[in-house]
Amino acid sequence: MTQDEQKRAVAQAALQYVPVGEIIGIGTGSTTNLFIDELAKIKHKIEGAVASSEATANRLKQHGIEVLSLNSVADIPVYIDGADEITRNMHMIKGGGGALTREKIIAAVARKFICIADQSKLVKVLGKFPLPVEVIPMARSYVAREIALLGGQPAWRQDFTTDNGNVILDIHNLDIMNPVELETRLNQITGVVTNGLFARRGADVLLMGTDQGVETITI
Ligand code: A5P
Repeated sequence: MTQDEQKRAVAQAALQYVPVGEIIGIGTGSTTNLFIDELAKIKHKIEGAVASSEATANRLKQHGIEVLSLNSVADIPVYIDGADEITRNMHMIKGGGGALTREKIIAAVARKFICIADQSKLVKVLGKFPLPVEVIPMARSYVAREIALLGGQPAWRQDFTTDNGNVILDIHNLDIMNPVELETRLNQITGVVTNGLFARRGADVLLMGTDQGVETITI
């Protein structure tokens, strides 16, 4: 299967996790977009969706799926999203599309996180994909200096503003041996809104597209 075929296969496989009669959390990215297209076919089975980005909200609305504000929702049984990298421990790097903060908020609320990804996303050690960090604009240079002290090489994502009005620093050349610790340390830098390590709250299930079909991985 090609990478696109793998993405479509996991998008279809994720339908089995859609909570009937309830609210679903929806991530951001090309794999998630394919899932939204599949979800549209069974949209009458759900009450609505909470979106992790304006782009996702727009796509859901185009399909006639009701988009709810997170503040109006008490429970999200399932959150479905892609990843830029994921390990078999279910730790992830996310935020390639810049939606990491809202993704992390919905993931925190959700009872179950289903990650959908093609096999190119599975890695032994996180960090080849530059780690995104969302930063308050006036803190950009300070945060970059602090990240450099930790051994990373931050690069300002040019001409990009997040849905929350902030900037992104992408940290290059990291070998992330302890994702939980690094996630915590980065969050302690003043001016950091969120970082793209999803280790403290990782995925519960990985639906991974392979040449043979969809493999289901849990811890
Ligand atoms: C969005 O900010 C990211 O976290 C995405 O979930 C991630 O980049 C995966 O995107 P693709 O499905 O396009 O690879």
